[in-house]
Amino acid sequence: METVVSGIRSTGNLHLGNYYGAIQNFVKMQHEYNCYFFIADLHSLTTHPTPADLHGNVKQVLVEYLAAGIDPETATIYIQSDVPEVAELYLYLNMNAYLGELERATSFKDKVRASPDNVNAGLLTYPVLMAADIIIHKATKVPVGKDQEQHLEMARTFANRFNRLYNKEYFPEPFAFNFSDNLVKIPGLDGKGKMGKSEGEGNAVYLSDSPEVIRKKVMRAVSDSGPTTEYSEKPVEIQNLFDIIKVVSSADTYEHFDNLYNTCQIRYGDLKKQLAEDIIIATAPIREKINDIANDTLYLRQVARHGAIKARESASKTIREVREIIGFKSF
Ligand code: TRP
Repeated sequence: METVVSGIRSTGNLHLGNYYGAIQNFVKMQHEYNCYFFIADLHSLTTHPTPADLHGNVKQVLVEYLAAGIDPETATIYIQSDVPEVAELYLYLNMNAYLGELERATSFKDKVRASPDNVNAGLLTYPVLMAADIIIHKATKVPVGKDQEQHLEMARTFANRFNRLYNKEYFPEPFAFNFSDNLVKIPGLDGKGKMGKSEGEGNAVYLSDSPEVIRKKVMRAVSDSGPTTEYSEKPVEIQNLFDIIKVVSSADTYEHFDNLYNTCQIRYGDLKKQLAEDIIIATAPIREKINDIANDTLYLRQVARHGAIKARESASKTIREVREIIGFKSF
């Protein structure tokens, strides 16, 4: 059975984009592959190093993974920092990662541009750690969004380079993977790009948002004064709202508002009201579980320990073999 690895950085609550873009894939894949899903808390240190926030952020992602339906008996769910073998492999891979290729990574350049005062080596070698996450379990499939494509390509480069250097076909190549053919894209509510935490207040609907907060955010979503010619093309901010409706609402609802748009009778207040209610309904099962799971410390502890044991079993086997390949020997 093929092995799947994916992770989400622990920098706070998950939003609709995380859910429909990644976690829904995880939930489906867990039954068909040997899955490892982890919380990338080491990665979060590159941008979010505050000790007081760290544990809460990790807990939030763990709770939301579980509430969304990842089953810790079926998939292996673990916290990255619980598996020190990952950090060891990262060290070995760093020895053969070149400064030039790391500096050229788009995500690195974006981060440098965004915060020129915090260009730490961890940011530079972020893709090396990500490669270690993936190849430590010899994964071949990685469910991630389009924005991670370049990181996956680098993971293949590092895996292949290791194999070539030591003249052994040891690590398989990992590839980005989407469970369904149509990549689900969840735009933000700000009328611009994708839903994301760093895009500003009100742009993202979080899985943990209460119905009142969801209504408030959706009602404030950017729209315009409506079309004036029939069957005109939708401007980006309106298309965004329709894109979200397509994912969370029924086909009838989509058609209803599409018709009103095409005949210039649409009232965005009505559309937003409906959209908010449909988001509330779609996320209700997760929201209901979030609080219960968050309050069950015993269960969370058990899940984290169980996951760490399973992940370390696989990771320590790889590290044992890698040490041998590299040439470490005991006296
Ligand atoms: N870089 C990923 C992101 O920002 C998170 C991540 C870290 C990851 N390690 C990974 C994803 C390994 C897949 C596999 O979304």
